[in-house]
Amino acid sequence: MNVGFSFKEFISSKPGLKYLFFGGKGGVGKTVVSSAAACLLSELGFKTLIGSTNPVHSLSSAFDQDFWGKGITPIKGAKNLYALEIDVSKTVGRYKDDLVDKISMFLKYADIPIKPGPFVEVATTNPAFEEAAMFDDMIDVMLKGEFDVYVFDTAPVAHTYRLLGMSKVYEAWLAKMIKSRQEALSLRLKLSFRKEKVAKEIAEDPLLKSAIEMKKSTDMARRLLTDPERTAFFFVTLPLALPIAVVERFVTWVKAFNIPTGGVIVNCVVPKEKFDLEKASPYLVHKIEEQEHYLKVIHEKFPGEVLAHLPLMETEVRGLEMIAHLAEALKHPSRA
Ligand SMILES: Nc1ncnc2c1ncn2[C@@H]1O[C@H](COP(=O)(O)OP(=O)(O)OP(=O)(O)O)[C@@H](O)[C@H]1O
Ligand SMILES: [Mg+2]
Repeated sequence: MNVGFSFKEFISSKPGLKYLFFGGKGGVGKTVVSSAAACLLSELGFKTLIGSTNPVHSLSSAFDQDFWGKGITPIKGAKNLYALEIDVSKTVGRYKDDLVDKISMFLKYADIPIKPGPFVEVATTNPAFEEAAMFDDMIDVMLKGEFDVYVFDTAPVAHTYRLLGMSKVYEAWLAKMIKSRQEALSLRLKLSFRKEKVAKEIAEDPLLKSAIEMKKSTDMARRLLTDPERTAFFFVTLPLALPIAVVERFVTWVKAFNIPTGGVIVNCVVPKEKFDLEKASPYLVHKIEEQEHYLKVIHEKFPGEVLAHLPLMETEVRGLEMIAHLAEALKHPSRA
């Protein structure tokens, strides 16, 4: 028997906790579990935002309320609880326009008489472009600091991996870009006869300014994301072989990025106490036996880190009432 902390106890043990992320295999219940966690946090008195960084938005469906593209929206029926579903197509559009401006500016400064169109196409057909836009949106929200706690319902593993990886790549890229821009500008200054005018131009250089601005917020985000007092990444799994394997892999990745881990939450556990197993159908008995086996495996693989077992509901999860019911299960320690 392995009785550890409950999710609620974990939260209480970390009074500075502000950013909570939920990851796991596709379809295991990340949206539902992060919504339940946000619901619990709001109940505990924290002004809470549940945000989705998943291009396929499902918060609206989980809460049965429309948040799509509406910005930060109070969740009806709840206190202290707000939802945010970012419309990625808008963000990507904004990024494309911004990129056209930046590339045009760059071409103009470099005296290259070429239209920016093809450059923008190359940059924006990159599969990481959408993730970069989402990542920036998430960071913008985090840095605004309007909430006590931010809960992020993240995308399936590959997306999240790239999302986390982006911050590292981004930082290196920005540092390089700033350095080469500074070098180019100082060369211009050296070669110029009208030093004062050029120095003024350099001080106001829009490319350098925006790169430095971006680097500042990425640095800040990186500091937040790797701070164990403020950030925790939780893993959602089902009591099944494949999602467990994904969590194992995911834990390694998250640790490689120095993101502090919170613990594991097992979703869709059949509430066996509701059945008389002597009389239950063999189908149900087998299912429960299989789950028991995998629950044991989970507790062995992640000793002391399993924070909750959430029950499999009779129907799919829709609406605040069902989410609040699941939030109750986050208050109790789990046992294998
Ligand atoms: N404990 C539960 N009991 C019953 N149904 C559940 C439970 N948890 C999740 N579901 C249902 O399972 C489906 C998938 O859940 P959810 O959307 O939260 O998964 P996800 O991991 O966020 O998926 P995706 O990877 O597509 O984002 C939904 O229809 C949801 O209502
Ligand atoms: Mg989801």
